[in-house]
Amino acid sequence: MAIMKISAGERKLEIPGRAVFADGPGGLAKIKINSASSSAEIFLHGAHVTHFQRKDEPPLLFLSQKSRFAEDQAIRGGIPVILPWFGAREGQPAHGFARTRTWEVKEIVPLPDGSTRLRFRLPDCAGAGFPPFTADYIVTVGDVLELQLVVSNASSDRELVFENCLHTYFAVGDISAVFITGLKGVSYRDKVENFAEKTETGDAVKIVSETDRVYQDTSGPVEIHDAALRRKIRVEKSGSASTVVWNPWIAKAREMADFGDEEYKTMVCVESGNVGKNKITLAPGKSATLTVKLSRAAL
Ligand code: BG6
Repeated sequence: MAIMKISAGERKLEIPGRAVFADGPGGLAKIKINSASSSAEIFLHGAHVTHFQRKDEPPLLFLSQKSRFAEDQAIRGGIPVILPWFGAREGQPAHGFARTRTWEVKEIVPLPDGSTRLRFRLPDCAGAGFPPFTADYIVTVGDVLELQLVVSNASSDRELVFENCLHTYFAVGDISAVFITGLKGVSYRDKVENFAEKTETGDAVKIVSETDRVYQDTSGPVEIHDAALRRKIRVEKSGSASTVVWNPWIAKAREMADFGDEEYKTMVCVESGNVGKNKITLAPGKSATLTVKLSRAAL
């Protein structure tokens, strides 16, 4: 089993008792973070947040019991960083290369309010026909979980056209009692019906079958009402014009080797980014920042 190496420079960033490196499954290195009010785990593989939990509460994020942990595979659950393309691309892995590359840890900063801020950088952004670019991912673990993905076009003469998405898997108590608000009146592409263009008419989205929707031109907050866990998760974002809602439901869950047959009942993805018609075009030297804040309140 390959053990992912942590460099001496990265090792120096550890803050004992607050942010320490550990070996994860499959030999993949992770950082375990303890803040005053919460805990989190982030793998260097994909800069993948797999866990966030406020003290004395159930985890906010879903992580599949069947997830693979291997250098050439994406982790199933948590927050995959989707970049520089979303979905399928001919001759390339789905959802871009960022989620299966090893990111470097550049900073771990204890903040005065008891939270911890970590900065990751994707070391090698070349490939798949894109001009050179840089990607920094800043994760702040505190009372809430804040994520910031900054992409800069490092080319001197080419536009960078890309998609991004923080493909967040939320843990829910019982999908049949979940409803999602904040999308009324928003148009979406329904991937379950061959990308048919539709408009959300209801006050709330209920998940009652396979759901795979790319909501477009929407930057407002989305809330996941979870009666079983008696909580409401709030997804606030900026620099994001798309929201994706995904649940594989029964048949697709069975087809997925890295997802339990029954796990569709305890998760829903509400993803924030810029995909499809909302893809981003950056002139040489320009940057784009996607920020997502995840919080929760009792119901
Ligand atoms: C969602 C897509 O964002 O991710 C779905 O809209 C896709 O179409 C899902 O099935 C999971 O993708 P993957 O590549 O992680 O299996």
